[in-house]
Amino acid sequence: MSEASDVTNGQPVALVTGASSGIGRAFALRLGAMGYRVIAVGRRADRLDALANALPAGRLDPIIADLGTDAGIAAVAEACAREPLTLLVNNAGLAHYGSFAAVPAADIAEVLRVKTLATTLLAHAAVPGMLARGGGTIVNVAGMLAFGAAAPLGPTPGRATYVATLAHLVALSQALAEELRAGNIRVQALCPGIVATEFHMRQGMDLSALPRMTAEDVVTASLAGLALGEVVCAPGVEDVGLLDGARRANLTAFGGQSPTLATRYRQQAE
Ligand SMILES: NC(=O)c1ccc[n+]([C@@H]2O[C@H](COP(=O)([O-])OP(=O)(O)OC[C@H]3O[C@@H](n4cnc5c(N)ncnc54)[C@H](OP(=O)(O)O)[C@@H]3O)[C@@H](O)[C@H]2O)c1
Repeated sequence: MSEASDVTNGQPVALVTGASSGIGRAFALRLGAMGYRVIAVGRRADRLDALANALPAGRLDPIIADLGTDAGIAAVAEACAREPLTLLVNNAGLAHYGSFAAVPAADIAEVLRVKTLATTLLAHAAVPGMLARGGGTIVNVAGMLAFGAAAPLGPTPGRATYVATLAHLVALSQALAEELRAGNIRVQALCPGIVATEFHMRQGMDLSALPRMTAEDVVTASLAGLALGEVVCAPGVEDVGLLDGARRANLTAFGGQSPTLATRYRQQAE
């Protein structure tokens, strides 16, 4: 995505959530180097200060906010509505992996709030201004597990809530891309596989022995995917036809319904 393609007047402005580490930090550094003014959201002020120091003066404005709280979501939504955003990167996230029965309800609620409620409400706050300014871009960081809900668990004891939030983000992005295309707003669901960040380490998992993509490559894929017009961007999927196949399979199942009770249910009930 060239700077010129994403800005109509003056300096482009991006708001990046979860900018204090990993993929969000890589987005903030890349966008700052491209000339964006970056509004960087996170809870760790020291990390955001270090990020500001890594960019030219005046390129980064931090917002310290907890997107797991109503007040944090409201503060960042207010910035999304007030600032002339050309780009919103909904990236903040956590997983709280664990068996569904054992994960505390508060942890489930936090995952839902950060990954789905905050993301949806920040997009909702940003869109009116983007429409009024003639366009914009929203990137929602989901993950390949959006397509892997039925996959074997692997090293985790359970991940249902997290996986469901990724599916929410893909569905939200696809539906918004359809709805907002006429308003010149691009929407992308960014679906990395395993990435070398603090994400797994923060929940006590060491995946450093596994092959992992870099956060920088994820950002490269996202920006290139926007230029290619991809709504679902999967940095590690070589065959783009697989993603189109998944989209078409969904639409085929959706189109295969009728108001008549399907024969197998009628027969089973007899
Ligand atoms: N790493 C992977 O393998 C992988 C794979 C697929 C998708 N993803 C997605 O990629 C996104 C970025 O994760 P990452 O891999 O870069 O992990 P990370 O290094 O742990 O970064 C997560 C970011 O989210 C922020 N965050 C978490 N909870 C927050 C809250 N309550 N309020 C505000 N900010 C919060 C963190 O900031 P503070 O702690 O400073 O608040 C941090 O900047 C996530 O949404 C994740 O679902 C990651």
